[in-house]
Amino acid sequence: MTLKGKHIVLGITGSIAAYKAASLARLFIKEGAEVQIVMTPSGKEFITPVTLSALTGRPVVSEFFTANDGTWHSHVDLGMWADLMVIAPATAATIGKMANGIADNMLITTYLSMKASVMVAPAMDLDMFAHPSTTRNIEILRSYGNIIIEPAAGELASHLIGKGRMEEPEKILEAAKSFFEKGGSLSKKKVLITAGPTYEKIDPVRFIGNYSSGKMGFALAEECAARGAEVYLVAGPVSLKVNHPNIHRIDVESAEQMYQAATDIFPQMDAAILCAAVADYRPKEQVEQKIKRNDDEMTLSLVPNKDIAAVLGQMKTAQRLVGFALETNDEVANALKKMERKNLDFIVLNSLNDAGAGFRHDTNKIAILSKDGTKEDYPLKSKADVAKDIIDRIFA
Ligand code: PMT
Repeated sequence: MTLKGKHIVLGITGSIAAYKAASLARLFIKEGAEVQIVMTPSGKEFITPVTLSALTGRPVVSEFFTANDGTWHSHVDLGMWADLMVIAPATAATIGKMANGIADNMLITTYLSMKASVMVAPAMDLDMFAHPSTTRNIEILRSYGNIIIEPAAGELASHLIGKGRMEEPEKILEAAKSFFEKGGSLSKKKVLITAGPTYEKIDPVRFIGNYSSGKMGFALAEECAARGAEVYLVAGPVSLKVNHPNIHRIDVESAEQMYQAATDIFPQMDAAILCAAVADYRPKEQVEQKIKRNDDEMTLSLVPNKDIAAVLGQMKTAQRLVGFALETNDEVANALKKMERKNLDFIVLNSLNDAGAGFRHDTNKIAILSKDGTKEDYPLKSKADVAKDIIDRIFA
């Protein structure tokens, strides 16, 4: 019973495939989950609430309040109750409303209040599925971190053949089980993430910095937030934006400011992922006025910055602490030394010798080195997918 004790909100919309939602609810319950059905008004045209409430042992929710006694159905409470929301079948109309926040029914308000992760199983005719507006709306849902369960190809309700059939309930069950096996919803977790470079001032116009764009750290923040975590993102100077409302962004410039922010927040966290490329040194003195050019050689004296990871490694109580190692040579040996010295649970190695890995790319190629001596190599992937692999490991 891999879903034992899990709370699943099952959203049902107006599609012929709604009948399959009854089997899906049964499968979830057989695996030990508690299922709360939320339906759109048109969902009820395809399958009756009576069938679904009998299967789940819970009244179906589809209106904002019960007409005869005025009982209020709180979408906010459902958003906090759930460990996972599954919308199956999801019509083009519902997907469009989800993408654009059109909260005109109970299912959409529940979706917008949802603290847990959301899986969406589209069901529609092949031309509707292939339409650019559907494609765009699905991409928007992915960017919110929703998990899309791709529809299958086959005969559709219209008798046309193509892609648009809702995936079978057994496959959706497998997706939900695999979601929980990889750590499931992070809805009660708080995660600190550092991202981007730090700038160490030389004078009012110059600094020591590095090429970090923040993409890897921001991808980690978006993925943690999409899974329901409360994320504290301490970001060096980068031009990226955050999308998810669960991300609290703290902008800093120097390693010292990043150190202050990270050490303040860390005691309240469940985990920290240190992805920032922190400058190891800063100029000993910051000059008040712009340094003027002359023909003499110039020497800049540098002093070491605090090692944020090492300090958090000392402060650590029950938190999971993960660092990165960006290497150019003796990669594994250097990464292992860093993991040991900074008291990390594991370290993510990326090497500038791998094409498409490290700074600024949209992709990365990593290996995860663990304290037990194991090394797991991953292929080149988008930073969004690399973030998923890392987070699966942290909370598995
Ligand atoms: O931002 P992108 O362009 O997407 O690039 C991503 C990245 C290459 C910056 C990222 O994947 C990465 O490798 N980040 C860590 C880079 C780095 O500084 O590694 P390091 O080997 O120097 O540091 C080891 C670890 O200690 C890191 O977790 C680092 O955040 C931490 N550290 C280092 C120095 C310091 N003073 N304080 C720290 O916390």
